[in-house]
Order: sequence, then C-alpha cells, then structure tokens
Amino acid sequence: MTSLSDDVAPAVAALDTIVSLGKRRGFFFPSSEIYGGINAVWDYGPLGVELKNNVKRAWWRAMVQERDDIVGLDAGILMHPQVWVTSGHVASFSDPLVECATCKRRYRLDELPGGEDLTATELRDERIVERLGLVCPNDGGPLSPPRRFNLMFTSHMGPVEDEGSIVYFRPETAQGSYVNFRNVQQSSRRKIPFGIAQIGKSFRNEISPGNSLFRTREFEQMEMQYFVRPGDAASAAFEEWLPRRRAWYEAYGVAPERLRTREHAPDELAHYAKKAVDVEYRFPFGWKELEGVHNRGDFDLGSHARATGENLEYFDPVTEEHFIPWIVETAAGADRAAFTFLIDACREEEVRGEKRVVLGFHPELAPYKVAVLPLLKKRADVVEIARRLRDDLARDVMAVYDDTAAIGKLYRRQDEIGTPWCVTVDVESLEDGAVTVRDRDSMMQERVPVEGVKRLILDRLAEARP
Ligand code: GAP
Repeated sequence: MTSLSDDVAPAVAALDTIVSLGKRRGFFFPSSEIYGGINAVWDYGPLGVELKNNVKRAWWRAMVQERDDIVGLDAGILMHPQVWVTSGHVASFSDPLVECATCKRRYRLDELPGGEDLTATELRDERIVERLGLVCPNDGGPLSPPRRFNLMFTSHMGPVEDEGSIVYFRPETAQGSYVNFRNVQQSSRRKIPFGIAQIGKSFRNEISPGNSLFRTREFEQMEMQYFVRPGDAASAAFEEWLPRRRAWYEAYGVAPERLRTREHAPDELAHYAKKAVDVEYRFPFGWKELEGVHNRGDFDLGSHARATGENLEYFDPVTEEHFIPWIVETAAGADRAAFTFLIDACREEEVRGEKRVVLGFHPELAPYKVAVLPLLKKRADVVEIARRLRDDLARDVMAVYDDTAAIGKLYRRQDEIGTPWCVTVDVESLEDGAVTVRDRDSMMQERVPVEGVKRLILDRLAEARP
C-alpha cells in the first residue's frame, strides 16, 4: 500500500476541472441531460468521439494489426442466456450492497467510509456492518447487512416476457471470444499460442457508479483472450502481457509514475481467475484499476465444453496432444483509457505571464491533428487558401478550420483541445506561397511551403507513432 506521504500527485488535482473542460469543449456530456440526466451514462461530444475512436484504433493497432498471432472478432451483445450461467456470472457476478433503513440509499460496502480496506472475505461477512458500526454517510441511519447484488442487466427476447425469454446484456466481451474459439481457430487456421481481440459495449448495473467516465453502467471494453498450452505457458504469457500492456499506456503519453501494478489477493480473485494483476492509474480520486490482466486457466473453455457437450479441445499437431487451452486475458476499458489519457494530458502552464491550459495528447490520440487558421478573415484570398488547405488535409487527417477569433485566442483554443499543430495563413502567404506551422508543445513556428504542409504533418505523425 502506498502511504499518503509518498503518494504521487494526480495530473489534475480536482476531478471537476476535467468534467467542466470535458463539457465546455465538447468531449463528453451527461446522457439525456435536458431530462435531468440518467445516472452513470455519458455521451461523447464531437471531440470525445474522436478521442475515443483514436484510443480504440491505437489499441487495435497494437493488439491486432501489428501482431501476427492475434485476430479480431465482433460478437453480439446479446448471447444465449445459458452462456452466463456457464460462465459463472449468474451465480457470482455480484457486489456487496447495503441499504440505509431510513433514507433507503444503497451503497457498495467496499466504497463506504470505513469499508474501503475490507478484504473480500470480510465483504461477504453478514455481521460486518454491525461489527464495524458502519452507518449511512447520508443521514447516519442504520445499514442493512450486506447482500450480493448481481450486476447484470436483463431483458426479454421476443414478445413474451417470462423466465424462458430472459436475456442478459453482456457484462464483458470475453465470453463472445470463448464461444467462438473453435470457429475462429479453425477458420483462421491458428496455432496455439494465438489471441482473439474484441472491442465492444458491455453493461453493468453498478451499485455506485461515479467519478464521471470512470465507472459507468454502459461502457466499452477492449479485451484480448490469448490461448496457450496449459500450465507454465500461461504463466509465461501472463508475465509477458502485463508489462506490455502497462507500456502501451506509457507509449501514448501517460506518466510512468502515475501507473503501478497491483496483484489481487487470493480471496479477491474473480470466480474465473487463477491470478489477476491490475494496471492502476493515479486518478484525482485515488489509485484505481485501469486494466486487468488475468490468468483464467481452463475455466472458461472447460466450462463451455462441459455445458454444451462440444469438443473445445485443441489438437497440437507437433506433440499430437489434445488439450483445453488456458487463457491469459488482457481486459481494458475504452472509456476508462480515454478518460485516463485526457486527465494525464491536462496541464496548466505560464507563457509570457499568461496562463494556458494544454491537453498534451500524443498526436495519434489528439481529436484534431491540425487546425488551419487565417490571420485575416476579411481577406477572401487568404481565407480561400486556408479553406483549400483544410480540405486537402482533411482527406488524410482530422483537420479543422477556425476564424472566429483573433489568432492568440485561436491558438489557446486549439491548445486546450490538444491539437498538435496549427497552420496560419497570412497575407505574405499570397506572395511566398508559404504558411506558418506552430507546434503545440514547443510553440515554435516554422515557415513551410503550402504544398509541403500535408507531408510535414503526416511525417510528424509517423515519427510520433510508438
Ligand atoms: N473480462 C474481464 C473483465 O471484464 P474487469 O476487470 O471486470 O474484467 C475490465 O473489466 C476493464 O473494463 C476494467 O479494467 C475497466 O477498464 C473496464 N470497466 C469495467 N467496468 C467498468 C465500468 N463500470 N465503467 C467503465 N469501465 C469499466
């Protein structure tokens, strides 16, 4: 445990700073806000959708495109309900819930003041509330003993709403990869070890969602299931994937000192896991899970094989053995990753006596790569060059045109949304055919022939790529 005195400071002291910047600049908004909002669902605005798409693209690049041992999959959100019985989610995917007898508010026991450090065994102890004298943080009322609350959302498929038509909104993408293991392995003729990667929505009826995008009820996961030989090969794969996944966040700009790993205690392990280590990030509200790496053993394929009677064994043509592969899973969240990159990129600096807020995104994650700004919006010839340049850049990268303020203000605006390069077109451009390219971080400016701007931006993007 890190003590408070040697703890690392978060990139942004107060979560509110990020939430208000997120809304002001159009990264994310509370869902259905004009109706008063719906708890724990967020909508991504014009910049947020770009950021999140870039995060997903960067993950796919690292986990599928650049790997010749991992292939992609996009399975349905709704699956056969028996999948979730077999996977253990119907019986075990739950959190400890306590309820106040007077105000009726409900809390997750491990998030109550006084409950944060309880072990998994203590969280299951029916007398724990009484033993620790825990009371409602809202009105001091008595709290019920903890009961397990299943986190899966349910619905009904078809016109009849009865027990037989129940379906679950998937709480993880992983099961889609397990039930398709044989389809994918055979159709893509993969040999073990190989992986199946997926990005997609998952849903959890969290008891205490919160901290903005951190914990929501609808979110996207980026999960990869790596199928290996049983036993030592799984431990070895685990030891390779854990540092590789941590390094991915660093490669895209997260400060190494704000990342750490934390192994789950034996009584804290999810029902499927033999070993689990979280990559944690120092959020403004403390160290919290960013991604989990799990050794799931043969729990999943073994359980699905038993439940369906299907043969999910792999035949190793070299050793001529049949076996159920073990699985090492890397489980990340697209929203949580985007939120982390946003927080970690945020900095306030003083430049020539003036404060500027900068989102120092890695260029590949930045919503806009380049902004084209005419110095004189009243000059039709200057505006025309700027508009033409933006249109040409936009064929390859996200590029934006803006002439709605003076140049100093336009620069600040782009700094605050993390645009790595600004290009200004001025009256001199009409004579020398050149424009000024300004770098977000160094604020250095260079004169570049207008026809060389796109090459320069594409080269800089390629150089920055991890
Ligand atoms: N398949 C394993 C699995 O789902 P998990 O640790 O429960 O593991 C993986 O979830 C990742 O999904 C988390 O590290 C987090 O990034 C993201 N995630 C989980 N629940 C979330 C929630 N309620 N809101 C946002 N992201 C969530």
